[in-house]
Amino acid sequence: MNNQTKIVVVGSGAVGSTFAYTVLLRGLADELVIIDKNQDKAEGDALDLNHGLLLAQPMKITAGDYPDCKDADIIVITAGAAQKPGETRLDLMQRNVSIYHQILTEILKYNSEAIFLIATNPVDILTYITIKLTHLPKERVIGSGTLLDSARFRYLISEKMNIDPRSIHGMIIGEHGDTELAAWSLLNIAGMTQEQVKEQSRYYLSSAEKEEIYLQTKNAAYQIIEKKGSTYYAIALSLARICEAILHDQMSILPVSAYLDNYKGISDVCLGIPSIIGKNGIEEVLDLPLTKEEEEKLQHSANQLGNFIHQIQL
Ligand code: LAC
Repeated sequence: MNNQTKIVVVGSGAVGSTFAYTVLLRGLADELVIIDKNQDKAEGDALDLNHGLLLAQPMKITAGDYPDCKDADIIVITAGAAQKPGETRLDLMQRNVSIYHQILTEILKYNSEAIFLIATNPVDILTYITIKLTHLPKERVIGSGTLLDSARFRYLISEKMNIDPRSIHGMIIGEHGDTELAAWSLLNIAGMTQEQVKEQSRYYLSSAEKEEIYLQTKNAAYQIIEKKGSTYYAIALSLARICEAILHDQMSILPVSAYLDNYKGISDVCLGIPSIIGKNGIEEVLDLPLTKEEEEKLQHSANQLGNFIHQIQL
């Protein structure tokens, strides 16, 4: 493989075009190809981004089509219907599974070696479907998972405690959706867990505060969609973060949507679980020391997704 890095993004809607912009700002790859069924949109985005090149980073940015997937290191799929106000992510399932069937068939004609990064909702199910339809190694099919939810979670805690969110280590795991759970037992600030900090400490969260933060995290997308129609900035940053870990072989631990096989008794489903991300994709899914209650909630998340997966008509 030459040392030039190439990202292809399929879907140049709000998420895909914002991701493309983030790739440019971060100088994440040597080449970026934008594919969309609306060729004008892809070409317009490529033109617009190229006009900012000298103000950002050198990069070869083009609008393309599926043959341009050849030699891509990472293929990011954002295409599909997005939630409308009042819709859950799972409501999008059958529509987006059908779209994925077409997209994956085309991509595989030109590239079956890339790492596939899935963003379309319901992301855990579409990550699962991508593995089943492509038969690619599961470590090379990654969903954005609960990385975005964990970022929201850490931001909300940081606001409560007036601490840099980068100094708060906490994870939302499970479905990127209504059954996600906060792994409160693993929350730590400078290594201090909630069990260890004193109740009068400003690093301690009461049960009421925890419930408020969890609900705000879980419902964040609905809130944003009501206000501005869709979300795209933080999910684009999440996708860029995963690409960065892959392209720079950073071995970062990120709660991506990973295929689980006998994980705490959970099998044949994709869920957001902290995993080590490097040049090969998912290097390892971490076996988290969850409490019994957290494991039960994770099982519920898995069951919910399993019920929907069984409804899919491929
Ligand atoms: C959200 C979308 C990406 O949570 O599912 O904003």
